[in-house]
Amino acid sequence: MTESRIRSAALRSKIMSAEEAAALIPDGANVGMSGFTGAGYPKAVPVALAAHIRARHAAGEHFKIGVWTGASTAPELDGALAKADGIELRLPYQSDPACRKRINDGELDYVDIHLSHVAQFVWFGFLGKLDVAVVEVAGVLEDGRLIPSSSVGNNKTWLDQADKIILEVNSWQNPALEGMHDIYYGTDLPPHRRPIPLLTTHDRIGQPYFFCDPEKVIAVVETDSADRNSAFTPPDVSSRAIADNILDFLGHEVKKGRLPQGLLPLQSGVGNVANAVMDGLQHGPFTGLSAFTEVLQDGMLNLIKSGKMEFASATALSLSPEAAEEFNRDLALYRKKVVLRPQEISNHPELIRRLGVIAMNGLIEADIYGNVNSTHVRGTSIMNGIGGSGDFARNAYLSIFMTPSTAKNGAISCIVPMVTHVDHTEHDVQVIVTEQGLADLRGLSPKRRAEAVIARCAHPTYRPALDDYFERALRESPGRHTPHLLTEAFTFLPDWMARHAPAGARRKESVG
Ligand code: COA
Repeated sequence: MTESRIRSAALRSKIMSAEEAAALIPDGANVGMSGFTGAGYPKAVPVALAAHIRARHAAGEHFKIGVWTGASTAPELDGALAKADGIELRLPYQSDPACRKRINDGELDYVDIHLSHVAQFVWFGFLGKLDVAVVEVAGVLEDGRLIPSSSVGNNKTWLDQADKIILEVNSWQNPALEGMHDIYYGTDLPPHRRPIPLLTTHDRIGQPYFFCDPEKVIAVVETDSADRNSAFTPPDVSSRAIADNILDFLGHEVKKGRLPQGLLPLQSGVGNVANAVMDGLQHGPFTGLSAFTEVLQDGMLNLIKSGKMEFASATALSLSPEAAEEFNRDLALYRKKVVLRPQEISNHPELIRRLGVIAMNGLIEADIYGNVNSTHVRGTSIMNGIGGSGDFARNAYLSIFMTPSTAKNGAISCIVPMVTHVDHTEHDVQVIVTEQGLADLRGLSPKRRAEAVIARCAHPTYRPALDDYFERALRESPGRHTPHLLTEAFTFLPDWMARHAPAGARRKESVG
């Protein structure tokens, strides 16, 4: 196995255990780790590092590192390091319960960054020095170039920018991944930047391998561990209704001549609702679909399998264990229809705008004027992070946000008078959809937007309260362009929700 996966003799000579490799990472280091959702993250070194950190803490020493990744990872990385209290600063995205708890308890600094910004911020020097890269790969060529794993994320940048590199070579990853990636090395720094020459979702503009300076490699660790993506819950009544509302709307746009029959490249966010929309497309009338997105989820794989989707461009395979098994079995088919790119390309504003992407992302709460909070529960506790939603929403041909109209068994309305935290302003949100209906906000002034959002998206239980707020704001607000009652915008609805929530509904205001 070793010689077929690690074809470079120079790098074979650096093979060591995960414990030995972890011990080479010093206290205070900024460490760039691979990983985007539960795909392509290092499986052994972070766990060994967490044990090392615990031992250092037990000896009374300080030991914390900065953890930079592509996006979220898995319990063996975020969970293990957060539980060991080994993270000083985390960026640019996480979704791990242990990590989230430390952030919301004020014990861990978190910088929530647009995913397309991360690589260039590192090149610009905005985030400081990257000391060590820990990157999972599927194999190493004779000349030291690397075969990427099931996610690309920021690995190209980590390998370029880090002083030292630790490689995990995971023999669980299918060797047939070789050739499926497109790593673009043409992103110069301003003022020398040139247009990125990608004109369709399936264009290849780079090469299938990462360059890697073998001199910088301080350790090579062999692993044989599966990616850890969780299974999706089957679409429920609510997510099916959301999907149906989106499909009706897209059909309407085709009839109006504003979208072609095969739509435009789709971007679908993370989570069960996003996956349900893909499932809905499976039964919808559209064919010849394509995707220009961050993660390839099960629903998208099914669209490819059924022939409804012709091509998907992403940065990671975010597949359930069953779908990953199928993907690996039929990789010969999928590799012709899927390309994985660095996240600064998959999420690039220039490309999203050029290709005319239809963006569909989830939210925590939306307000009556169309501002969206994707990240914070009641304004102060982080859920996950903005991820790529801002990259896509601002630059999309059509920017759609979707959510059930209520959360926590109906105890919380996801449509509120004023969002408690803003990730996407009213200017970046064109459509809001819930299981109740769809509000098309294009070309509407704030007051008309409020009428549409309350009437079409709010749950009937909460609609009267929102109507009442809006009507009083129309009468009493000092300014009548975006009428608000600022002293009660944040207190009125929670009180109202507490009084009107269905019996038995559980109210939970904080996360983590
Ligand atoms: N108040 C409190 N909790 C809320 C809430 C609200 N208004 N709205 C949702 N939630 C909770 C849900 O109850 C659920 O909690 P649970 O995990 O304890 O059950 C959780 O948030 C997820 O909500 P769900 O309805 O299952 O939707 P989802 O899986 O689609 O996730 C986001 C919604 C907003 C959390 C998710 O889309 C996200 O993290 N978005 C930001 C990043 C992003 O968009 N990335 C994609 C770009 S490519």
